[in-house]
Amino acid sequence: MPNAFPILRTPRLTLRQVVLADAPALFSIHSDAEWMRWYGVDPVSSMGEAEHLADLFSSWFAAGTGYRWALERREDRQLIGTCGLFRWNKSWRNCVIGYEIGRAQKRQGYMLEAITAILDYGFDVMSLHRVQAETHPDNLASISLASRLGFRFEGVHREQAFWGGRFHDLNCYSLLERDWRRLRQDA
Ligand SMILES: CC(C)(COP(=O)(O)OP(=O)(O)OC[C@H]1O[C@@H](n2cnc3c(N)ncnc32)[C@H](O)[C@@H]1OP(=O)(O)O)[C@@H](O)C(=O)NCCC(=O)NCCS
Repeated sequence: MPNAFPILRTPRLTLRQVVLADAPALFSIHSDAEWMRWYGVDPVSSMGEAEHLADLFSSWFAAGTGYRWALERREDRQLIGTCGLFRWNKSWRNCVIGYEIGRAQKRQGYMLEAITAILDYGFDVMSLHRVQAETHPDNLASISLASRLGFRFEGVHREQAFWGGRFHDLNCYSLLERDWRRLRQDA
């Protein structure tokens, strides 16, 4: 684990640590219940909850269990989403990936750009062997993004998640280091 949080740069974004001052931007994304319906947790309903989320995201680095990057758009310095590598098992060299972007910024290639950078970081610097993605079977945007990134479907985790007052199945996908190297080579 590096001493300083790793800042990553892509053509349009700076990926940096989430800070408390990001709470209003996180609130605007995470309070959009319809947009976040398959995200995996209940939407935030107050600024206090958004501050708690900002704290939670930045705590992973402090605890050594992973990273959550804020996606800051360079042209206006706006936080447009976040993505992360977490539940890091250092012995087994694997972790889980998560991501969300604001509705207004959807489908502009931002998440593909950000995830490409964090997967490079994960395989090159964190020495990961495997990254797992878990997504609701109805989350077509997330499933399509994961397959575009080379993730392979492994099966259904029955009723693994709980939000919105009920349990949900999650599709499980994985990306191995060799899949990623091949994809990057062919790009
Ligand atoms: C999933 C999500 C992060 C995608 O972010 P995005 O910035 O819109 O994605 P991108 O623009 O980088 O799209 C990259 C590729 O993903 C796929 N994709 C993204 N959104 C899609 C959609 N609505 N339908 C189908 N494919 C989609 C496409 O292959 C797309 O490439 P293309 O536009 O060239 O066809 C976004 O929809 C989101 O934040 N959803 C709400 C939160 C959430 O559900 N997070 C995931 C929890 S598992």
